Amino acid sequence: AAGDAEAGAKVFNKCQTCHVVANEAGEVLAGRNAKTGPNLYGVVGRAAGTYPDFAYGESIVALGAGGYTWTEADLAVYLADPAKFLKEKLGDDKAKSKMVFKLNNETEAANVAAFLATFSAA
Ligand code: HEM
Repeated sequence: AAGDAEAGAKVFNKCQTCHVVANEAGEVLAGRNAKTGPNLYGVVGRAAGTYPDFAYGESIVALGAGGYTWTEADLAVYLADPAKFLKEKLGDDKAKSKMVFKLNNETEAANVAAFLATFSAA
């Protein structure tokens, strides 16, 4: 089921130590301009591992290079266990994630995915 974007705005508090949502003009729409993780503006519909000039791990780069683009539903799965998600999608047991954070609460994951989807064209 699709998440609740409004509730997801609060869940984003857990993400903003590492991520910002900032538009092309550089306006910060969510978070405090953290740079440990990639800017998540427009992430739904974007090829994985492709935010310009961010030093991603090689597994997520390989996923995006293979043509994979983020969906709202997959974001929620990724958040529960990023390394597991990359292993499964790539079919590679050795895949690694540079995102060490996990969001184990499924409702929160669906809600923050819905929140992030509000920053992508429909
Ligand atoms: C990557 C979401 C929390 C650090 C990503 C990506 C998404 C995401 C969607 C992939 C982006 C892309 O392909 O361009 C979130 C959300 C969070 C969260 C929604 C909160 C629920 C965190 C936290 C940290 C972090 C707390 C730091 C401790 C990173 C890093 C990457 C990443 C370093 C790059 C992964 C790689 O290169 O393998 N995150 N994140 N994230 N995130 Fe997060």
